[in-house]
Amino acid sequence: MTEILVAYATKMGATKEIAEAIATRIRSASHEVVVLDAGDVGSVEPYKAVVLGSALYAGRWRREAVKLLTRNEKLLHTRPLWLFHSGPLGSDVTPQQAPRKVREIAARIGADEPITFGGRLTPESAAGFIARKMAQGPMAGDFRDWDEIDRWAYTIAQRLVAAR
Ligand SMILES: Cc1cc2nc3c(=O)[nH]c(=O)nc-3n(C[C@H](O)[C@H](O)[C@H](O)COP(=O)(O)O)c2cc1C
Repeated sequence: MTEILVAYATKMGATKEIAEAIATRIRSASHEVVVLDAGDVGSVEPYKAVVLGSALYAGRWRREAVKLLTRNEKLLHTRPLWLFHSGPLGSDVTPQQAPRKVREIAARIGADEPITFGGRLTPESAAGFIARKMAQGPMAGDFRDWDEIDRWAYTIAQRLVAAR
């Protein structure tokens, strides 16, 4: 049990890139890190700690991220867990409340509620009719703050070093 799992649930790729940036920072503290689509994670049993993030759509997490949590709740009681979600469009990123199910599971596990990172919606990345329409409006842009993401990942890396 040596690796850290960074799992993500995305529709248009922005959350995957956040997960990769988090993994890069944790790796730089000499941890082995694997980055996986949440839908490809059966069990978190092989991992000693888990970071999980989902894109937000209509206030919800993507199903594969919620499934990962519900299926693995028992195992996650014995592993550190960090949660994030990505969504708000606009330069003023307001923290978003996670869906109730996610908050309840986080509370039972003793994990913090998810941190909110800004999202991305651009004509190049938009998938689907509504997203393409939205990407032509005032919400369009990339509002991910890579320094903030890196700082958060750094705190995780430090905690993992302390726990080693
Ligand atoms: C149809 C639609 C609904 C959305 N709903 C929300 C929402 O409820 N809350 C939010 O913060 N962001 C919302 N967003 C913004 C996305 O979460 C944002 O673009 C995110 O970065 C997409 O992540 P992904 O590229 O990983 O799928 C929505 C975007 C679209 C296109």
